[in-house]
Amino acid sequence: MTRVPSVFLFLLLVFLIVLHQSMAAAAHHHHSIVSETCKHSANGDPNVNYTFCVESLQSVSKSKHADLRGLAIISARLAKADAKHAKSRVKTLLKAKKMSRYRKSCLQTCRELYSDAMASLRDSVKLIKAGRYGDANVYISSAVDAPGECEDSFKEGSIKSPLVKENHDLFQLAVIALSITSRLG
Ligand SMILES: *[C@@H]1O[C@H](CO)[C@@H](O)[C@H](O)[C@H]1NC(C)=O
Repeated sequence: MTRVPSVFLFLLLVFLIVLHQSMAAAAHHHHSIVSETCKHSANGDPNVNYTFCVESLQSVSKSKHADLRGLAIISARLAKADAKHAKSRVKTLLKAKKMSRYRKSCLQTCRELYSDAMASLRDSVKLIKAGRYGDANVYISSAVDAPGECEDSFKEGSIKSPLVKENHDLFQLAVIALSITSRLG
């Protein structure tokens, strides 16, 4: 039986230790870009829910390798996808046979607000990519306002909003996108 030189075993051991440590460091880095960014956003804006922020950004695997600009794009896209989801929910609600005229007008208002928010968020991604961060902020800000305006329309008529969850999520995602984008440039 040939003996494996102990020098070789030693080097192998050193190699494995170094490999393990650099992998652990990389994992930590991936963890921290999202959590650091969300911590920063939550500290800077009382509207931002840290847990919601981390869970949302981590749902996109690209977040792990992203820089701040990448996270701004990812968060704006998440908000856009959410506005799309909210819009399709309204579409379903509008199919109901019996509905007061007032409720219908609220739902139509919200549908329009979601459409506009989708367009603004889509444009904001293009603007971030072009390095026009100030303009991107203006577009994202208009999306931030949409869910509140939708809720207000129901409140004014003293009827219960059927879109509380959609509006909560859209508001959160848009506020997160705004908070990250305002740190660029
Ligand atoms: C923050 O978000 C998490 C995850 O969505 C949720 O469970 C929690 O209730 C939220 N906290 C507040 C104060 O809204």
